[in-house]
Amino acid sequence: MKILMVCLGNICRSPLAHGIMEQMARGKGLDWEVESAGTGNWHVGEPPDQRSIRTARAHGIDISGQVCRLFRVSDFDTYDHIFVMDRNNLSDVLAMARNKSDAAKVKLLLGDKIVPDPYYEDEQFEPVFKMVEEGCRVIIEELS
Ligand code: 4NP
Repeated sequence: MKILMVCLGNICRSPLAHGIMEQMARGKGLDWEVESAGTGNWHVGEPPDQRSIRTARAHGIDISGQVCRLFRVSDFDTYDHIFVMDRNNLSDVLAMARNKSDAAKVKLLLGDKIVPDPYYEDEQFEPVFKMVEEGCRVIIEELS
């Protein structure tokens, strides 16, 4: 199974989702490949935001080696599932879909709820971690 986590900057939310899902899948003995990408290019080539790195580390997950990259059309070919954090991510990614099969791969991580952007609110990183963790738990249950 190949899974891609997508947010706007690929430095706050999707790196957390990437690290959490990778660790959860490994813990369940699942041979899943997890990556992340962003729809905006401001931070391409950079590591995740220090606040995401710190929050993940507090939960025993090291995301410091991740490198920000842009979402690209070929990701529709590479990945089985593409999970986005909010409705802007959803419309940005769907706008790049070439056909129905591309579009069918794209879903909100939390099903019908969004993961809010914590970029301008330091205190939101921990709640965002918890939301993403719960979303990953549900997805693993559904897909494994
Ligand atoms: P993310 O948060 O989408 O969770 O990575 C953001 C990070 C950076 C920016 C926006 C959102 N930015 O505008 O630079």
